[in-house]
Amino acid sequence: FFELSLRPEYLHQYIGQEKVKENLNIFIQAAKMRNEALDHVLLYGPPGLGKTTLASIIAREMTVNFRSTSGPAIERPGDLAAILTALEPGDVLFIDEIHRLSRAIEEVLYSAMEDFCLDIVIGKGETARSVRLDLPPFTLVGATTRAGSLSSPLRDRFGVLARLEFYTVEELTEIVTRTSSVFNMKIDPQSASEIARRSRGTPRIANRLFKRVRDFAQVDGTDTISLSLADKSLEMLQVDRLGLDHIDHKLLQGIIHKYKGGPVGLETISATIGEESHTIEDVYEPYLLQIGFIQRTPRGRVATALAYEHFNLEVPHP
Ligand code: ADE
Repeated sequence: FFELSLRPEYLHQYIGQEKVKENLNIFIQAAKMRNEALDHVLLYGPPGLGKTTLASIIAREMTVNFRSTSGPAIERPGDLAAILTALEPGDVLFIDEIHRLSRAIEEVLYSAMEDFCLDIVIGKGETARSVRLDLPPFTLVGATTRAGSLSSPLRDRFGVLARLEFYTVEELTEIVTRTSSVFNMKIDPQSASEIARRSRGTPRIANRLFKRVRDFAQVDGTDTISLSLADKSLEMLQVDRLGLDHIDHKLLQGIIHKYKGGPVGLETISATIGEESHTIEDVYEPYLLQIGFIQRTPRGRVATALAYEHFNLEVPHP
């Protein structure tokens, strides 16, 4: 129950992503005025920025059902057919990690998205025949961390493309303050902004850190999160002043100490620190790029002067 109310339900409650919200608000209003299903929406950007939340808000604002699945969960065309034929007019179908759909499933999805119909093969061998099923108009909301891995025919079938950005410290402070009140916990403004500063621009991380700090408050027997308590808790959680964790440190220090600051290829970093290259690319690198700690060059990743300074290391001269 708490988990549910943590997520905003309407667009006006959703903090940040102002441009995306402003556009979606227009498209939703227009579709409602025409009594049509909203055009298909592709949400992309790093994990934890609120893609699923936005998808469910779209359904609520359109007053339709929200159906949710993911790329890896749809294994056969029949799985997709079962989901699509159960939709009601105007429903939102959310497919998370849509870049992980197989080619065969993508092909089924093309005609479903474009013409709201489904061509399925019934029977086997000589008696096999193809039948066409009509579907109700629906809105596909796809989410992906990597818009580049989507095939272009699939990408081209989305009428709305929305890229989510990292949140500012001010926006995250607002989110932490809101979360705190959902949990009936008092938090002073400096503590909320300290948690925000250490959340890597990401609401999911802000809420996770908040919950752990709240645990420390609980055990301390206090009903208010003060700055000293927040600092102490965050220290124990091993997130540094910028919110970088153990893996960010391994990644940056690997480049700095083992490869003289780079350039070094992604696969080499992956083997060195023992993290999947996709995880590095989708989860860790985007924020390190955003704060200017690494750069991508044609010959690989490079640690910047800012990264050296963060670890109090002397910046090498080229
Ligand atoms: N909780 C998580 N993300 C949020 C957001 N963008 N706005 C409000 N509450 C949130």
